[in-house]
Amino acid sequence: MHKTVQDIINMKKNEKKISVITSYDYTIASLCDRAGIDVLLVGDSAGMVMLGYENTVPVTMDQMCMFTESVSRARQNSLLVADLPFMSYQANIDDAIKNSGRLIKAGADAVKLEGGIPMAETISAIVDVGIPVMGHIGFQPQTTTLSQGYKVQGKTKDSALKLIDDAKELEEAGVFSIALEMVSHEVAKIISETISVPTIGIGSGVGCNGQVLVVQDLLGMYDKLKPKFVKRYMNLSEDIVKAVENYKEDIESGVFPASENWFSMDENELKKLRDEIGR
Ligand code: KIV
Repeated sequence: MHKTVQDIINMKKNEKKISVITSYDYTIASLCDRAGIDVLLVGDSAGMVMLGYENTVPVTMDQMCMFTESVSRARQNSLLVADLPFMSYQANIDDAIKNSGRLIKAGADAVKLEGGIPMAETISAIVDVGIPVMGHIGFQPQTTTLSQGYKVQGKTKDSALKLIDDAKELEEAGVFSIALEMVSHEVAKIISETISVPTIGIGSGVGCNGQVLVVQDLLGMYDKLKPKFVKRYMNLSEDIVKAVENYKEDIESGVFPASENWFSMDENELKKLRDEIGR
């Protein structure tokens, strides 16, 4: 049985750190699940790292459902959370509930959406129909990029107080956890100590109850952006380019394929064939 939302809530109670990683496809999700990660997040960052968009704004529900389905076929142990993409929940509560339901039908256990106090009513309506919600405050890629660009949140007293109020209101609305993106580490720690549900930080310091990274960043596969908060555990893009160069060279020099890579006919059958075609 895979992890549940309650397991993740209990991890905070038991002072265990929560590991979260984004995944968008069957192959990588299988490996992350096998590595024992607590939560697989089908983030709308898929729009950038899988589809090559400049930001997450163009991502659609159909795309998120496809990514969620492929990750859900892979996961065995982790909790699976999927992002509601831009404008799939902001216009009205009916949209929010219907689209959350689509992600659940695609295999997610919970949904994540961006926004503080203005999203509280929507969150509570989704939770009321039985769908667990992860909140997401601080830097909100779907909208903060439109108004402010990439900017750390909670650097002043007023913006810190706003974030703390957002977190409290989201807890009140029923979220089972909150992602804190690019929040100053002091404020992230205060929020984590103030609310009872787990906080999952990305660029928000060690005071959060868990951490999330985009899998391509952690594996060193996405070179377009390298935010300060990313820790690269390997440089896979270099390894991949090298491997593909070697493959190309092997084709050109005739080293690949070798006999262990091809299939042979039965000798008698080959002889009969040669006799028949005269070669
Ligand atoms: O879309 C995403 O990848 C995210 C996080 C990294 C929190 O929302």
